[in-house]
Parts: sequence; C-alpha cells; structure tokens
Amino acid sequence: MFITFEGIEGTGKTTQIKLIKAFLEGAGHTVDVTLEPGGSRIGKELRKILLNMDSTDLTGESELFLYLADRAQHVSQTIRPAIEAGKVIISDRFADSTIVYQGYGRGLDPKLLRELNDVAVSGCWPDLTILLDIDPEMGLKRAMTRNLQENKMQEEGRFEAESLEFHNRVREGYLTWAALNHERFFVVDAAQTPDEIFEQIKAKTVEVLKNR
Ligand code: TMP
Repeated sequence: MFITFEGIEGTGKTTQIKLIKAFLEGAGHTVDVTLEPGGSRIGKELRKILLNMDSTDLTGESELFLYLADRAQHVSQTIRPAIEAGKVIISDRFADSTIVYQGYGRGLDPKLLRELNDVAVSGCWPDLTILLDIDPEMGLKRAMTRNLQENKMQEEGRFEAESLEFHNRVREGYLTWAALNHERFFVVDAAQTPDEIFEQIKAKTVEVLKNR
C-alpha cells in the first residue's frame, strides 16, 4: 500500500506521518517512511539544489525536470521495492506536489505535468493521498518558526521565502486538484488539533486498507 501526504508548508505533515506509522505498525504492518525531494541517494543531492536559497538562477523548467528526476529515482530505488516487499510506504510529498507547485503555483500546464509525472512514476500512483489543508498565513508562520528553530532557513527555505500570493495559489491548486482526483484524495482541515486530524486520517486509512 502506498500513501502520500500533501499540503503547503507548516500543515503538520511530519507529525501526522509519525502518528499513522506508529498506528499501522501497532496493527502489524511493516511501514517505511520516505520523502520528496530526497527519497533516494541521488535524490538527496537533488534536494540540496532544489531547496537551497542560493538556487536563485534555477529556471522553472530546470526545477521541473529535477523534481521529475528525483521522483523517477525515488520510485525505482525506494517506493516500488517497498510495495513489492508487501510494506506500507508513506511519502511526505509526491507527484501531486509537482502538479500543484510547478503547475498551479508557477503557471506550467497541470495536464502536461500529469503526463510527465506518468513517465516519472511509471504506474506507481498512490492508493491514498492525504491533503492537509490550511490557511497559508498560518502554515507559513509555523514553517518559518520551525526553519529558524532548526537553523534551516538557508538550506531549506527557498519555498518558504515565496510570496503569500504564491502560497495562496498553491493552496487553491491543491483543493482543485484534489476535487479532480477525489477517488484517491482525502482532504483534512489542518487547523484542527493534531489529535482531531489524526482520528480522521486513521479512519480513512483503515477504510482504504479494508477495501484493497
Ligand atoms: P518540504 O521539505 O517543506 O516538503 O519542502 C519541499 C519543497 O519543495 C516544498 O516547498 C514544495 C516543493 N516541491 C515542489 O515545488 N515540487 C515538487 O514536486 C516537490 C516534491 C516539492
């Protein structure tokens, strides 16, 4: 089973991934957690380029192809082997991030991005995608606080430094894309408490597992 988490910065994806991993392990599953960009050896190198504040000369098209390269590598080295081994694999971001950030956020055509993603994922689309939805002002405040606390602003802060307008487009893009793909998406209001959010994610995950 393949589960992905999506949402703008600061929605609490990391916390929820830890909670659902512990729950699924308690129910007897073997669970691997991974992330994009950076879910493979080569992907870790790509992540440095993609998220560093110094990458100001990275063009929109290059950025797109680096994310797709990261994904192709991630699927072949990490995700597909885990699925084939009968594990549950959970990814913090996946193909939908490209459609939403590079598409709805930066203005590339979402339909074309879906097709390019088809090449990168080669059939490996998630069984369930959980979208944590939050007002960008609230999310960005949380993400900036975390980056400053962990001293990661320079290394990881390129997207947090984008305008609020960009993040508003991304948030709306996520909601539009989730509605277009409702058979796979589950949208949760991330302004709720972590416990409230988790209860909903747990119920949905159990339901999807049961119906497989
Ligand atoms: P994160 O560590 O906060 O998830 O940072 C990853 C950043 O990369 C996030 O701001 C979204 C962005 N991103 C894209 O723009 N396109 C993609 O395909 C992926 C996976 C991430």
